[in-house]
This record gives sequence, structure tokens and C-alpha cells, in this order.
Amino acid sequence: MARVQSVRICDVQTGMILAKDVLTENGRVLLSQGVRLTDQCISALRKRECPFVEVVYNERIDFHTKFRYKHNKVVRSKTAFEGFYQETVQIIKEAFESIRLSNHLPLDVIHRLVDSHIGPLMDTYGALEYIQNIRVHCDYTYRHSINVAIISGILGKAIELKKSQLEDLVIAGLLHDIGKISITLDILNKPGKLTQEEMELMKTHPENGYQFLLQYSQLAESVKRGVLHHHERNDGSGYPKGLTKNQISYYGKIVSIADIYDAMTTDRVYRKKLTPFSVAETLVEQMYHQLDPNLCLAFLNTIKSSVANSIVSLSNGQQGEVVYLHPTPTISPIIKLMDGTFLDLAKNKEIGILDIINDKI
Ligand SMILES: [Fe+2]
Repeated sequence: MARVQSVRICDVQTGMILAKDVLTENGRVLLSQGVRLTDQCISALRKRECPFVEVVYNERIDFHTKFRYKHNKVVRSKTAFEGFYQETVQIIKEAFESIRLSNHLPLDVIHRLVDSHIGPLMDTYGALEYIQNIRVHCDYTYRHSINVAIISGILGKAIELKKSQLEDLVIAGLLHDIGKISITLDILNKPGKLTQEEMELMKTHPENGYQFLLQYSQLAESVKRGVLHHHERNDGSGYPKGLTKNQISYYGKIVSIADIYDAMTTDRVYRKKLTPFSVAETLVEQMYHQLDPNLCLAFLNTIKSSVANSIVSLSNGQQGEVVYLHPTPTISPIIKLMDGTFLDLAKNKEIGILDIINDKI
């Protein structure tokens, strides 16, 4: 049976076959399921700024070889992804616990882990969705480090960083909170609000992490600066130094976005996780003040691909499928409801998306 893949419009090639209808914002069929894409079709899709299409995976077309060569994406089942992910959590847990005890960073383990585990995880189709839905509520610190590494890598790929740059970026993501190693577990895992004093202590972690990594000359300076800058913000509102725009390193800006996205889409003791739709709104709000707008736009397109064709529950009690995404920075979809009618959330702003329920129906 043919498999279906969601492909970004910039990656679409002639010869690919549509697995689902492509709709216009009025719900009209622009291109039908089964159509073999020509240059004209692709040009029409690009003109309408469709962020993605669903295509049939078919080896006879021979597109996948080129596609994999360029993007190195792999289809993995959710179960296989989760197994690999849990193995990664175990390895990083042991590595971080050994750092806590010995104050020594096992760089060889980190490099091997990035190569053997983090790379394949971030190269998996649907990785962004998979990591949000792994139902484990313990080991937050380790999972957050892994997720920020994966999300940073996904964003790094979206902006077409070179392989060596990607590896450094992923290591910066993995080690971004390494400075928290020196903070006691009762403060780190405190379920309630931190006191002012505890908050000030927490804010030392980027500088602590940077100082800790300085002793490792094998690590690129860009990795260390990525760790140092992941809480800095373009408008100077961040910490530890209150740097602005060009003073903040590129990896620091990427890891910031990955850090925000993962923190907001993960369940915590004190609040429920938000949907990618809500987080996208926050990113749009912050992109012209605190974050890098170009990086945010690239990441918003990645989020759009990940929510394409999701089944969602709505605040009005209805459920439906995301069949179209308006070409705006915010993620504003048209939903095909269970009764076959269409609901444009851009025109019905009072209705919100409560949850993605792909796994719950
Ligand atoms: Fe942090």
C-alpha cells in the first residue's frame, strides 16, 4: 500500500502524485487527489503560498532518492520513534547524572548520541508532532534537552544549515541548560512559583553553562555562545546580559525559539501544554520584538507542515480535519467538520482549537 508524506511546497517535485485534494481558502478543489504534479501545478501551488501538500510515496517515480539525498528524511512509525526516543532519554540521563557527580562532560558520548540518536530522530517525518505526544511525565529536564536539540536541528535544516553547522547547533540545543547542573534538584523540580532569590539563582544557568563548557576546546565557540545566549532577546529584555539583536549569536537565537516551543507544548505540573496553534500565536507576537523574525517565519512554516491534516477538537464542541492553512504567519486553518462542511477559523475568531486529537479518535 502506498504511503503518504507531507511535503513542504519548496520540496515538491514534478512527478509526485497528490494523496489528498488541495483546497483553496474557499474550500474549492484546486488540485485533486491522484493528480501527477507538473511544473504548472507546482507553480500554481507556489502562487497560492500553500505551505505543504500530501503526496503518495512511490519509489517508481524515483523522487524519493533525490528527496532523501537532499533532506535525509525517514519514515518511522510512532512506536519506533518512541522506542528510539526513550533510549535517548536513558543515555542522556546517565550522561547528565555523571556530569553532576564528576563535573566532567563526556564529550565522546554526546557526539555519538547526536550521530546515532538525535540525528535520526530529527530526520523522522512528523518528529515535531511525535515529541509533543510522548506520554511520559517524568524526566522533564532530560526530555526538554533532547527536544530542544531535535527542534533546533529541525529549524536548522529548514534554513539549510550545512551538516557541520547542524551538528554544532544540535549540541548547543542538547547542552543549552547544562548550567542548571549546579542548581539543587529541589529548586529545579519545585512545582510552585520560585521565590525572587531562587529565580535569580536560576538566571545564572546560561553563564554557568558557558563557563563550564569553556574548558572543552574541542567544542566550537558557536556552541558555547549558543548556550550562553539562549535566554537573550532581541529587544534587550533577556538575560544574563540583556544583549540586543546582532549581539546575540545565531545559535542562541535558534535555541531560544526551540526552547520556547518545547516548554509551551509540554505538560507541566502547574499548567497544561498548549497546542502548536497557540504557540504559533505567541511566536508571531514575539517575532518582531524579542525573537528573530526570519527564524520565526521559517519555524512557523515547519509548525504548519506538522499540523497539516491534523484532527482537532474545537471550543464549540465540534471536531474536524485541518484541510487548509491561510498563508499568514499565524496558523489560521480551515477545518473540514465531521458533517462535511467547512469552518474558516480566520472568519470565526471566537472559535479556538482546544487540542489535536489524532491519537484519541
Ligand atoms: Fe535555559
